Amino acid sequence: MAIEATVVIGTGTMGRGIAQVAAAAGLKVWMYDVNAAQVEGASKAIEKSLSKLVEKGRMEAGVADTARANLQTCSSLDDIDWSKVGIAIEAIFENLDAKVALYKDIQSRLKPDAVLASNTSSISITKLAALTDRPEQFIGMHFFNPVPLMSLVEVIRGIQTSDATVETVTALAKNMGKNPLPCNDSPGFVSNRVLMPMINEAAFALMEGIAEAETIDEIMKQGCNFPMGPLVLADFIGVDVCLNIMEVLHRDLGDPKFRPCPLIRKLVDAGRLGRKSGQGFHDYRK
Ligand code: 3HC
Repeated sequence: MAIEATVVIGTGTMGRGIAQVAAAAGLKVWMYDVNAAQVEGASKAIEKSLSKLVEKGRMEAGVADTARANLQTCSSLDDIDWSKVGIAIEAIFENLDAKVALYKDIQSRLKPDAVLASNTSSISITKLAALTDRPEQFIGMHFFNPVPLMSLVEVIRGIQTSDATVETVTALAKNMGKNPLPCNDSPGFVSNRVLMPMINEAAFALMEGIAEAETIDEIMKQGCNFPMGPLVLADFIGVDVCLNIMEVLHRDLGDPKFRPCPLIRKLVDAGRLGRKSGQGFHDYRK
């Protein structure tokens, strides 16, 4: 099934990025959030991102105009023409109950053959799928931050996900200019199963005084050719998001090697959540 229109639900960093990329690829996009002020903020951020991409020669001006024309913001589900929607992409905060409550709200509006995708970074796709009215048409579509610049989409199938749904979503990701790679449902999938323990270990290295934060980042940048050091990346992702994912890995895999570093927990307790709060492993207040 070729998809021509989508609803992106949740207008945080990921939701707004997904909406932008889908609209730029020519899909009609409804970008929805219950919080009208947040929708407004997302709209401004998308405009800034499109202008920057054009200014830097990464996007043609015509493509940015296509994105603007295709994108419609809304804070009511009644404003969406559900008959046109081939897929709803959920990108709200990482809470199973909140996600399931949202699915209950939208699934009666979605066409019977429409796909429901979650951008969850670690919650079980199999479990989420089982709590919807369409487990075979439920799938993980995991984008990476910053969405307009990162090429990968991890396509995660739960045990119930049908081959047709995998094919539809793989084609959609390609149509959005992304590179979809498949994996099976497991805590953290592939990306966060591998990335988060590295960030966690960098936090242990800092806590144990092995090196300063800046040095740990530079060693991993220069020694492993990473674009960002692990602590800068944790600040970029959100220290709270990293803690949440480590907790899921620890709980669901039951292996002590995934225990969250106490320093990560301490930063979150202190409200040092990374770039978004002005301070994390590093200080962004200057
Ligand atoms: N739209 C438009 N421009 C953007 C942007 C966006 N959404 N986000 C950043 N930019 C801009 C910056 O403002 C900057 O502009 P400036 O130079 O004018 O200040 C510019 O992009 C950076 O451009 P560069 O050509 O210098 O880009 P780099 O080559 O330095 O790459 C990067 C930037 C892609 C962010 C790179 O540093 C990188 O790859 N970092 C690692 C990111 C990463 O690992 N992301 C994955 C996180 S894990 C995840 O998302 C999963 C989740 O489940 C946790």
